[in-house]
Amino acid sequence: MAFFDALRIILSFFLFTKYLQNSVQGEPQVPCYFIFGDSFVDSGNNNNLDLDIRANYSPYGVDFPKGPTGRFTNGRTVADIIGQLLGFIDFIPPFANLTGKEILKGVNYASGGSGIRDETGKELGDVVSLNEQLGNHFTVLSKISAILNSESAARDYLKKCIYIVIIGTNDYLNNYFVPSSYQTSTMYTPQQYANVLVKQYSKQLKRLHSYGARKVAIFGVGLIGQLPTIMRIFGDNSSMIDAAAQLFSRKLLPLVTRLNKKLTNAKFTYINTTRIVTTSAPLLAHLNTKGSCCKLRSDGLCIEGSTPCLLRTHYAFFDGFHPTDVVNVAFARKAYNKLSPLHASPYDICQLAQLP
Ligand SMILES: *[C@@H]1O[C@H](CO)[C@@H](O)[C@H](O)[C@H]1NC(C)=O
Ligand SMILES: *[C@@H]1O[C@H](CO)[C@@H](O)[C@H](O)[C@H]1NC(C)=O
Ligand SMILES: *[C@@H]1O[C@H](CO)[C@@H](O)[C@H](O)[C@H]1NC(C)=O
Repeated sequence: MAFFDALRIILSFFLFTKYLQNSVQGEPQVPCYFIFGDSFVDSGNNNNLDLDIRANYSPYGVDFPKGPTGRFTNGRTVADIIGQLLGFIDFIPPFANLTGKEILKGVNYASGGSGIRDETGKELGDVVSLNEQLGNHFTVLSKISAILNSESAARDYLKKCIYIVIIGTNDYLNNYFVPSSYQTSTMYTPQQYANVLVKQYSKQLKRLHSYGARKVAIFGVGLIGQLPTIMRIFGDNSSMIDAAAQLFSRKLLPLVTRLNKKLTNAKFTYINTTRIVTTSAPLLAHLNTKGSCCKLRSDGLCIEGSTPCLLRTHYAFFDGFHPTDVVNVAFARKAYNKLSPLHASPYDICQLAQLP
């Protein structure tokens, strides 16, 4: 008996110090944070899949505390930084790596190469499409129901979380503008394609809402024609890509307005990626925006084991597609605390967190 008493005392002391640590550090502004999207926010979901679009090797992660993790940048992704601004001490774990109760704080489902359409990026391998990410979220919902002993308790809990969705780039770069592998550009004009994408995206966001999500920030597709590898491949035609993708992005604020009207207690918000990037010109003027920090493979990802540039804070892009940590910080801050209504509408992420 004495042994168990001693154990109990040690355990409660341990739990108490743990509690103290948590209260000293402060609780995050919301209890949970879920991330959907593509390589801009993937934190390792592609690592064990059979595909080439992975970033779990050096020099990726050169400035990340854990080194290479599967993040497609030198340091943190936009999702990581928003998590820190929300007060989360630990990074939200990737779905591929889940263990136990940590799912109550949130999960990152994002997969590099994926898109709104199921076939997007599948030419690269078995990327996890947005529909499949939602399927994974449903699995997590069942696990949370088991932890909280009821599905309605789980849905109530999930209403308090922040959700971000960063998707759509690959529906252009790994679908519409790769006519050798995908039919969409022969089936649709850019205007029709934008409509088809928004229609499917709308269904997916309604599905997310049906799983309990209320506070959801969706990010527009930015000026993807200006990414270094796209400039190299498409030359002057890259402005065509920007024009097509902006047709899609311009439909997202109206989509958010419709969803907020139609769905119970919905608080969707639109983050205007293009606007945030164009108003970051003063920062970007100090950075190399044409080149990439790492040495590139022909597909625009870093060559494994290559030595990256020394001054990572002087480059806008780490590889041929993905911004460096310093750019992600500037971007995430504006999504979190908008400097103008055009950055985030109707709410920025800080306001979203505070809504009842
Ligand atoms: C995922 O799990 C593996 C094996 O346990 C571990 O080495 C890796 O660091 C984890 N990755 C992330 C991103 O947490
Ligand atoms: C640009 O588009 C035109 C017309 O579609 C095409 O003929 C040309 O090869 C393209 N140039 C590049 C660099 O892709
Ligand atoms: C997003 O930003 C772009 C670029 O500044 C602007 O043209 C567009 O009107 C903005 N869209 C919305 C819905 O505010």
